[in-house]
Amino acid sequence: MREQTAPLIFTSSRDDTKLIIEGGRPLEGVVEVSGSKNATMGAMAAALLVTEDCYLENVPAIGDVGHMAEVLRSLGVIVEPTSEHGLRLNAANLTQSSPPTELVGSLRASFLVMGALLARLGAAGCSPPGGDVIGQRPIDVHLAGFEAMGARVSREGEKYVAETAGLRGARVFADYPSVLGTQNLMLAAATATGTTVIVNAAAEPEVQSLAALLNAMGARISGAGSHTITIEGVERLRGITHRIIPDRLEAGTFAIAAAITRGRVEIRGVELDHLFSLIAKMRESGVTVEEDGDKLRAWCDGDLRAVTVQALPYPGLATDLQAPMAVLLTQARGVSYVHERVFDNRLLYVGELRKMGAEVVTTGTTTAIISGPTPLIGSSVRALDVRAGAALILAGLAASGRTEVADVYHVDRGYERIGEKLGRLGAAIQRV
Ligand code: EPU
Repeated sequence: MREQTAPLIFTSSRDDTKLIIEGGRPLEGVVEVSGSKNATMGAMAAALLVTEDCYLENVPAIGDVGHMAEVLRSLGVIVEPTSEHGLRLNAANLTQSSPPTELVGSLRASFLVMGALLARLGAAGCSPPGGDVIGQRPIDVHLAGFEAMGARVSREGEKYVAETAGLRGARVFADYPSVLGTQNLMLAAATATGTTVIVNAAAEPEVQSLAALLNAMGARISGAGSHTITIEGVERLRGITHRIIPDRLEAGTFAIAAAITRGRVEIRGVELDHLFSLIAKMRESGVTVEEDGDKLRAWCDGDLRAVTVQALPYPGLATDLQAPMAVLLTQARGVSYVHERVFDNRLLYVGELRKMGAEVVTTGTTTAIISGPTPLIGSSVRALDVRAGAALILAGLAASGRTEVADVYHVDRGYERIGEKLGRLGAAIQRV
């Protein structure tokens, strides 16, 4: 069954689209991974720093790209598709220094405009950003960093407002290695006067890819990928053509889908380094994972074994793969522990999983204890956020009978044509 192909930029606004899955079919075949959602967010924001064209390639056709495009357009940026997965952005004529609150509410990454606009215009405003309901999501790392670099930050009504006569390099301590916080400070610091050092920076591949993009623009950033990033401010940046890195979270989701359906899938176009923690945990639980250049093959012939999983900042296991891993562990023999150590409320999907027959209990809001294996039974469930939704799709693929996943717009925010891709691997999945 095929779903309709979507154009590059579509807005996965709230609607009542559902995915209907007839479970129990092993996934077999080859799937190509799309560009990374979260790397695309930083790359789009970086276009605000320059007056020249920026071309992005390998942009995923997902809802959040559409949302970010709307945020940037509200500031006067031209954002237009150049191909199925290409974008041109031009920020030569910025008309606003602050996006409307209603646009910012739909997307956490919209707050990245703060760092870039502050650098470019010396002024920026933005409401506290929206995003998934997965726990407290403060922005103190971003704001304290801007202040350390000489910006005045205040609250005007619902918006944070930052102003500066010129950002100055500073040594900044991040209370937490926040991914967007680190990216925001890199955007702000690239053209500041002097050198900025971010101590306790996030090391995620999406941070590394933004550093590479900014360096291609002419910035001087070193240390990305470690927890200390140094940014020597430069006077001027220029337009670039940049290829978005593969989405490690989509790749991981497909690897887990192969294992949980007892199928065999080759995932092409991956960056294996970015998947090291996931591959280690999948192997520990009994999945065979073959690494081959930019390809990963995953399958599972024998029994799955219970393991302990901890979601942590990179290079720990990604919090965004915590729910998919938990679904896999419902099929593992023994008692598995899943500890979410990044967000304080990212186990809400457990209630949905229980409807399908999973034996999962939570202690507090950050530990799930899973007893398995339990047969999953097709049920009506809701996608609560992008990753929880993907996890429930995996559960539906493994379950007997028919699963209806409602609120699938959450999943469309971050996964390109997930139903179509799974359908090509043999899943019986339909969008209604
Ligand atoms: N935190 C602070 N202070 C801050 C910022 C964050 O204490 O100023 C804490 C948060 O409370 C949270 C932890 O840091 O407990 C992690 O938050 P972080 O700021 O690193 O997350 P984020 O930058 O808002 C990005 C991704 C998320 C991903 C996290 C963690 C984007 C657009 N989003 O969010 O992706 O889960 O990093 O890796 O890059 C997703 O794709 O589904 C998704 C939610």
